[in-house]
Amino acid sequence: MFSPHIHLSNNANIPRVGVGVASVENPEYLVYQALKNGIRLIDTASIYKKDREVGNAINKAISDGITTRDEIFLVSKLWVHEKDDPLKALERQLKELGLNYVDLYLDHWPMQVFTRDGQLVKVPTHIVWKAMENLVERGMSKAIGIANYNVQRIMDLLSYAEISPSVLQVEVNPYFHQSSLINYCRSNNIAVMGYNSLCNAKYIYKFQPDFSLNLFEEPLIKALAEKYQKTPAQVILNWAVSQDIVVIPGTSHPWRIFENLDVLSFRLTNEELTKLKSLDRNMRCNDSTKWGFFEGIDFFA
Ligand SMILES: NC(=O)c1ccc[n+]([C@@H]2O[C@H](COP(=O)([O-])OP(=O)(O)OC[C@H]3O[C@@H](n4cnc5c(N)ncnc54)[C@H](OP(=O)(O)O)[C@@H]3O)[C@@H](O)[C@H]2O)c1
Repeated sequence: MFSPHIHLSNNANIPRVGVGVASVENPEYLVYQALKNGIRLIDTASIYKKDREVGNAINKAISDGITTRDEIFLVSKLWVHEKDDPLKALERQLKELGLNYVDLYLDHWPMQVFTRDGQLVKVPTHIVWKAMENLVERGMSKAIGIANYNVQRIMDLLSYAEISPSVLQVEVNPYFHQSSLINYCRSNNIAVMGYNSLCNAKYIYKFQPDFSLNLFEEPLIKALAEKYQKTPAQVILNWAVSQDIVVIPGTSHPWRIFENLDVLSFRLTNEELTKLKSLDRNMRCNDSTKWGFFEGIDFFA
């Protein structure tokens, strides 16, 4: 029903459905099973601290003849505390991954000030971006992109970028459509990758114990699941895919990989997509202001 890929500004093709490892409990097993069962897009990040396991799984899948490095699209991210030296950060990550390059390297959070060893470190985005462009020139990343940027920040970045961001990764789900941001990206040839597309209960309950919404229980989602004989999760992911948003739902359960890949097999009608607009609350499920992130950014140190 859907083509399996989206074409990026660096001429690479990114799969529409992948798996993110942030909240995955068994990353080596899960990534290997994902590759074995047809997933070719893996989303990781330095801050997840899972590079060794992710790399082991990828290298094992390649040596077992399941896939090739060319077929895999590996995304990783530069964490805030290493913004002053993206080259060193990616060199370290590649060593841990046991790989020569990533397909996409994202600036994980647009935070330009952090503390290290009690010292305040300030790195403006134009400096970070120049260093990230250098990673492409060195062949360490095929493309570069951004995560958690808003329109204003992207506009600023585009005013000086010599290599434009190929992808923006942000929270997108039926409670948080982000329509203006997505339209802006579309008109600037930046593909959108959605995270928390299902609203990750585990994550949310840890930081936001008062969060009580459940997308899976929304009557409209349930009715569409019934109509198409799919699960609520598949309807939600299909809604995102219908807008050319790449999805990377995390799961610790390999059987859900089939379910999540199968979202490419049906199409919601335009009328149904319009009805789903009624769920938009313009509200983040994953609200970083609740993490203590902005009071003391050493939360993730
Ligand atoms: N750039 C950023 O700042 C940022 C922030 C957050 C996340 N991310 C990336 O986005 C990825 C996805 O986000 P996420 O994992 O936090 O949230 P998510 O995709 O909204 O949710 C994943 C949750 O949904 C469950 N799930 C997955 N597939 C399912 C299915 N078919 N049916 C029912 N439940 C299903 C999983 O539970 P089970 O494990 O029980 O299956 C897991 O708890 C992350 O792994 C990470 O790579 C990036």
